[in-house]
Order: sequence, then C-alpha cells, then structure tokens
Amino acid sequence: MMQGSREPLSVVLITGASMGIGRALACAFAGMGHHLLLVARSRETLAELAETLRRKHGVTVFCCPEDLVEPESSQRISDYCLEHLLAVEILVNCAGLSRASDFEDLAFRELEGIMAVNMFAAAKLTRLFLPGMVEKKKGTIINIASLAGIQGVPGLALYSATKSFLITLSEALHVELQGTGVKVVAVCPGFVDTGFLEKAMHNRRRIRLPVYESDLVVQAVLRGYRKNRMRVYPTFLDYLLVFSQRFTPRILVVKITDFLAAARDRQ
Ligand SMILES: NC(=O)c1ccc[n+]([C@@H]2O[C@H](COP(=O)([O-])OP(=O)(O)OC[C@H]3O[C@@H](n4cnc5c(N)ncnc54)[C@H](OP(=O)(O)O)[C@@H]3O)[C@@H](O)[C@H]2O)c1
Repeated sequence: MMQGSREPLSVVLITGASMGIGRALACAFAGMGHHLLLVARSRETLAELAETLRRKHGVTVFCCPEDLVEPESSQRISDYCLEHLLAVEILVNCAGLSRASDFEDLAFRELEGIMAVNMFAAAKLTRLFLPGMVEKKKGTIINIASLAGIQGVPGLALYSATKSFLITLSEALHVELQGTGVKVVAVCPGFVDTGFLEKAMHNRRRIRLPVYESDLVVQAVLRGYRKNRMRVYPTFLDYLLVFSQRFTPRILVVKITDFLAAARDRQ
C-alpha cells in the first residue's frame, strides 16, 4: 500500500511486543501518545494488542509479525516501514530468549536461535534504522539487555554472552553518536516476572534475587530515554550489585552470580 504524498508517520518500533516487557512498553508508549510498530511471531496476539491500544489511546498501531531467527526478517521489517511510510523514531530491541542449561547440552538450533534474536536481529535493526535517525538528527535506540550481561553467568553462558554483546554495542554507539541527536540506551534488568523464566527453564523457587514486575523495567526505559543514559537499572539493588563488582575479584563476581541466579538449579 503506497501512501501518496503524505509525510512519514513517526513510530516506536518494539520487538518482542506480544508479551512480557515488550508488551508493557507498548502500553506505556501508546499511553504517551506514540504511534507504534509491533513485532513478534504471535500474529493474533499482536493484532489484539494493537486493537486494544488503538481503542484505548487513539494511536495508530501497525503490526509486522516476524520470526527474528530468520536472517532476512530485519530487512523485511525495514521494507514494511518503507511500504507503509513509517519513520522509526524510537527502536526498542526487546525480543529475546534464553535457556538455562549447561553449555554442552545446548542444541545447535537453540544456540543459533538465541544468538539470532538477542544479537543479530538487534544489531541488524539498529543498522537499518540508524541512518534515518541520524539524517533527522533525532532518534533513540533502546536495547533491553540484562544484568546477566554484566558478567558471565554459569548455566546461562550463551545468554549472558549475548547480553554482554548488546551492552557493549550500546555503549560504543552511545558515544559514537554523541552530537548527532541520536540516543542509545542499554537497559539491564535483573529477574522480571514474565513468562520468560519458565520458557528458559529457570527454577523460580531457587532464584536468590527479587523477581520484580515489568513496570519497573518500563520506568527504567523511560528514565534512560528522557535522561539520555548510557545504561540504566530498574532497581537500586541492581545498581548496587553492579557497583559492588568494582571491589570484588572477578572470579568471586562470577561465583556470587552463580549462587544468586541459581541458573544451574533447574526445573
Ligand atoms: N524476564 C526476565 O527475567 C528478564 C531479565 C532481564 C532481561 N530480560 C530481557 O527482556 C527482554 C524481554 O523479555 P521478557 O521477560 O518480556 O520475555 P517474554 O515474556 O518471553 O517475551 C519475549 C518476547 O520476545 C519475542 N520473541 C521471542 N523469540 C522471538 C523470535 N524468534 N522472533 C520474534 N520475536 C520473538 C516474543 O514474542 P513471540 O513469542 O510472539 O514471538 C515475546 O514478545 C528479553 O530480551 C530478555 O532477554 C528479561
């Protein structure tokens, strides 16, 4: 559907918008009057959410169902934006998955899926939408990383490595893009109460850290967005855990994380 001569519509593109943190972010941005482009695999869930947000907030909501494991999916999302004359003003790379497992037990398919969604899709979407933001001298990229990306986590070795990737990518871009009008924020939540933990085979009862609600992550996202922070943490405890690493030998940091996350103590 080509849109004649109308101006492009500025949207917030949220991956992983069908549930959990991404869904909470979609509700928050719609509540602030932003138009949205929602991405995830669950076509019907996205359509229902879009309809709810349109009715409740009077915003325009587009859905682009995609499986981000597929190498061409990011390009298809970009093509969708061109076709529908959408300008991505805020990109939220939120889609992600994990598997609590000894590394040697991860199937190749799982390994590729985790890397494809957590790393490649986020990097490709950033690469695809960044030039438009730089050209407009306005835009924000929000990467939902994790406390797991601050250090290696035994039982989540690959997941923590993908989140480290996202944090360092965000940090480098945050500085690289200073003066261009484009902001880049890495958000580092601890454990959040979504379906993610069960899907990743965590044993909730063994986790020795608070499991908090998505709304704390939403608040951290908005704080990072408004204040142009390089990194944000949803809670003071998250911040304290990271800060205390400065005074702790690295091997001890990883062992304490192993104890607190209990990712090897599975369901
Ligand atoms: N929950 C936590 O404890 C926690 C802690 C720190 C960081 N995080 C991060 O926060 C982000 C959101 O997690 P969450 O807790 O909201 O998890 P969630 O409830 O499981 O939601 C994950 C989202 O990612 C989408 N997704 C997964 N695989 C996909 C694929 N192949 N293609 C497209 N979309 C895909 C899912 O949609 P479909 O299934 O419909 O495709 C869903 O919308 C993730 O990046 C996660 O690593 C979570």
